[in-house]
Amino acid sequence: MNKLQRLLQNKILILTICAAGIGGTFQYGYNISIINAPASYIQTFMNTTWLERTGVPLESNVILLLWSFTVSAYPLGGLTGAVVAGPMAIMLGRKMSLLLNNVFVIIAAALSGFSRMAKSFEMIMLSRFFTGMNAGVSMNIQPMYLAESAPKKLRGAVALTSASFTALGLVLGQVVGLRELLGREESWPFLLASNVVPALIQLTALPWFPESPRYLLIDRGDKESCISALQKLRGTSDLSAELEEMLAEQAAVKGQRAKNPWELFQNPSLRWQLVSIVVLSSAMQLCGNDSMYSYAAYVFQEAGIPQDKIPYVVIEHDYRLCWSEAAAAGGLHLHGRMGHCLHGRSEPAAGVTGVLPTEVFDQMSRPAAYMICGSLLWFNLFLVGTAFPFIVKSLAHFCYIPFLVVCVCTALYVGFFLPETKGKSFLEISEEFKKRNFKTKTRAGFYKGPEEIKTTTL
Ligand SMILES: *[C@@H]1O[C@H](CO)[C@@H](O)[C@H](O)[C@H]1NC(C)=O
Repeated sequence: MNKLQRLLQNKILILTICAAGIGGTFQYGYNISIINAPASYIQTFMNTTWLERTGVPLESNVILLLWSFTVSAYPLGGLTGAVVAGPMAIMLGRKMSLLLNNVFVIIAAALSGFSRMAKSFEMIMLSRFFTGMNAGVSMNIQPMYLAESAPKKLRGAVALTSASFTALGLVLGQVVGLRELLGREESWPFLLASNVVPALIQLTALPWFPESPRYLLIDRGDKESCISALQKLRGTSDLSAELEEMLAEQAAVKGQRAKNPWELFQNPSLRWQLVSIVVLSSAMQLCGNDSMYSYAAYVFQEAGIPQDKIPYVVIEHDYRLCWSEAAAAGGLHLHGRMGHCLHGRSEPAAGVTGVLPTEVFDQMSRPAAYMICGSLLWFNLFLVGTAFPFIVKSLAHFCYIPFLVVCVCTALYVGFFLPETKGKSFLEISEEFKKRNFKTKTRAGFYKGPEEIKTTTL
């Protein structure tokens, strides 16, 4: 709890986390869950608009197809967002990118909010695409921004807040989607457009907080702004140790420019870092977290829970996961990387995979690493989203087994191959990887003892 106390002492850092989270990973979770409640109303809307336009109703399988386009527009937008996030983070800076990112949500909210008035279901699809783009950008830039702003000792705890905001968004989206609030037939355009509220909150709150000090110093070469940002974030003027470390990184990357993803693939000294983030970002999604949220209603329905009780059971289920994550922020994951991953079962991708690229790549490779990581994440979300109904149909109560297998394999990979990153400076971590990539040292340092595995619950 020591870490949590230290985090709580630092008000500016906390407020920065909240301001970034509300328009960031909170939106990701919120938008995943608000689309579930109005599904049947929107399908009816598609049918009736088509009938008005052409004079013939749509067949039920055509409606389902249109619906699946609408749903998959979200991860597709996310993929696009993940790709533009890299250049955005480099050119505009972390904070400015997060702020500008809200434009996508505002466009999306306008499109979905007016879609019924305009009698166009295509606007809903487009709106979901823009919503996805917003999530794609923030899922990449928010963890980068926060991990670069946090002190070394709190990096892990701060990264986990991204996951907690996702969980909060998922639960709140479901609550707002209840019949008592915006879940009625006539209010679905308002439900879909309600994601503009967190965007507006972020637009008013985030400008008050400092840009990532690392970005200011290393990318911009602006030492003065870096120091003033650090002073605000740490609440103290004794910054010599941290500044020294940043200056060392600045010197190490001097004369380089930010890399693009292809350059990462070609560079042998980055091979293990790349393998690690690819394995982890694929696994986290395939571990079934987010599909668990998106399809909770479906799984409960297959399990025979009465239709009208399902929304409440789902909220209860997500609410518990949400608190298990909040509890994790307090204790569990502080056992280090291994704890992170074993806990990954209920921790959406933003947790582990959110901070890992920040830790294992230097300032010049980081945005490109996030582009790769983010693209995989969204591709997997798309894949799992498409395959999950079929998996449930064929495996019924055992539907989580394939995900469990992926989880166990990932935990093994992390245990045996990934160096511990907790509490180390970025330069120290990159030294660890250098040893691995060029095999000059023994493996001894890379294996985490079994006692660490035991202390975390699966
Ligand atoms: C589409 O609308 C028509 C006419 O109102 C109706 O007969 C049909 O059942 C609807 N189709 C679906 C799948 O709801």
